[in-house]
Amino acid sequence: MKLKVITSNPGKVAEYQKAFDELGIEMEHYRLPYDEVQTSDLEEVVNKGMDEIIAKGVRDFIVDDTGLFIDSLKGFPGVWSAYAQKTIGNKGILKLMDGVEDRGAEFRCCIGCDLDGKRLVVVGVCRGVITEEAKGTDGFGYDPIFSPDGKLTFAEMSVEDKNRISHRGNAVRHLIEELKTI
Ligand code: IMP
Repeated sequence: MKLKVITSNPGKVAEYQKAFDELGIEMEHYRLPYDEVQTSDLEEVVNKGMDEIIAKGVRDFIVDDTGLFIDSLKGFPGVWSAYAQKTIGNKGILKLMDGVEDRGAEFRCCIGCDLDGKRLVVVGVCRGVITEEAKGTDGFGYDPIFSPDGKLTFAEMSVEDKNRISHRGNAVRHLIEELKTI
């Protein structure tokens, strides 16, 4: 079986491929721009995106909307994570966190899966901390400044190790459970 991963981010595709390897599902990187509605709700972004993709005649796919929510910044960048990454980047986030003691943060990943005409939407969370400095060269986005346990950052982990504990890995595990019931 083949599932399209609709994203502009090859890093996400690599994580999905590793996570679905054991089920023998092949991931196809599929580039199809769709509107990311401005809302404070990741699930709403995913559901609206799925409606638009299906209206374009594309089926059997996964979309993923992810945000990094920092406790001391009242959830910023959250649903603005893509914009914040493009503008202030990890350097800007570290600057905002300069001298801040409470480093708690969480990634939330919402996956929408369209398969055989059915829709599943699941969420996975990973709590951790914003590090004092960027570390590691693997991964993408906020990976160099997020550590799930205060030791290694996601950018210092292999895809397998990140998937074992990450927001996306957790969301995929929920998705696989749901797929077993349909
Ligand atoms: P989106 O889900 O592609 O809209 O991602 C929003 C922002 O979060 C982008 O800047 C991504 O690079 C970043 N991002 C998404 N998933 C991850 C992740 O697993 N690790 C680090 N950054 C991520």
